[in-house]
Amino acid sequence: MEKLNIALIGCGGIAGNHVNGYRDLHIQDLRVFEIKAVCDVSTENAKAKSETIGRFQRDTPKIYTDIDAMLKEESPDAVDVCLPHNVQNHLKRPV
Ligand SMILES: NC(=O)c1ccc[n+]([C@@H]2O[C@H](COP(=O)([O-])OP(=O)(O)OC[C@H]3O[C@@H](n4cnc5c(N)ncnc54)[C@H](O)[C@@H]3O)[C@@H](O)[C@H]2O)c1
Repeated sequence: MEKLNIALIGCGGIAGNHVNGYRDLHIQDLRVFEIKAVCDVSTENAKAKSETIGRFQRDTPKIYTDIDAMLKEESPDAVDVCLPHNVQNHLKRPV
């Protein structure tokens, strides 16, 4: 089965809970997805999540600081939006 390519947008508090969930699915062998990229205006936050993800899946996700650049480059099958609501409302295009 082909894996679903996911991108994580926003790498703060709630994203940590989502990443823990992805890790738990991996541990239970439910590896139907691959987190290909993470995006955050804070490189530090993006790097931290990328490193955490790289500890349980084979490849470490690529880091982006710009949502549009990430979407253009990666064309993910799905995005996991973990942005503050006020930011989500001001995105240039819906994700
Ligand atoms: N933390 C929780 O327990 C929790 C629980 C339920 C719901 N939520 C909701 O989740 C959302 C996010 O909350 P949080 O606690 O993770 O916030 P947070 O501030 O910890 O994380 C948000 C992240 O988004 C990044 N960000 C901001 N603007 C961006 C942009 N334009 N492009 C890319 N990255 C950007 C910030 O740098 C930060 O790393 C909120 O709407 C909140 O209500 C949070």
